[in-house]
Amino acid sequence: DFCLSRGLGDVYKRQCQSRTNIVYGVGDPEARIMFVGEAPGADEDRTGEPFVGRAGQLLDRWLQQLGLARSSVYIANVLKCRPPNNRDPHPAETQRCSPFLRAQIRAIEPRVIVGLGRHAGLLLSGREDMSLRSMRGARLEYDASSPREQKRSRVVPLVVTYHPAYVLRQHGEAEGKATQMVMDDLQRALAWCQEA
Ligand code: URA
Repeated sequence: DFCLSRGLGDVYKRQCQSRTNIVYGVGDPEARIMFVGEAPGADEDRTGEPFVGRAGQLLDRWLQQLGLARSSVYIANVLKCRPPNNRDPHPAETQRCSPFLRAQIRAIEPRVIVGLGRHAGLLLSGREDMSLRSMRGARLEYDASSPREQKRSRVVPLVVTYHPAYVLRQHGEAEGKATQMVMDDLQRALAWCQEA
């Protein structure tokens, strides 16, 4: 069973028990660029595909502006099951789910990873506490070496930017500014892709 709840307390069991579908990932298995969000929402839970709701539609527009087809990238989330009522992922859930994300990254071998939002950014960068603003400005890497082959250190450039759901909550000038910052970050990720 994919259910990750075994061994966790009752609070965390509900994440798997209340889901409709496991939302694993979608896209090109050979993608050079991989996007990682936080967790499925209601639309994703219903369809089994990440980023298909309002946040997903905004992500699609960003991809379009960059000249990227959704089918040419890979899209996944930190959590594979929708947390009840879209609550924030609990650190124990993130830890329980992260081996699946790590396995996806090993399989796809992207040239660059884009972390959407703070949760994905912290997990992928291995940082304990860092603001999204600091992550945006930092040169970050995802350590892709598996525990068994630690000597063969493999790192993937990591760009962390705002989550589309955050940008959707901005209005007027703030929305324009946030969108511009995201586009700058995504351009940086694309440049990495082409260089690597
Ligand atoms: N937000 C996410 O982080 N992931 C999704 O798949 C949808 C919304």
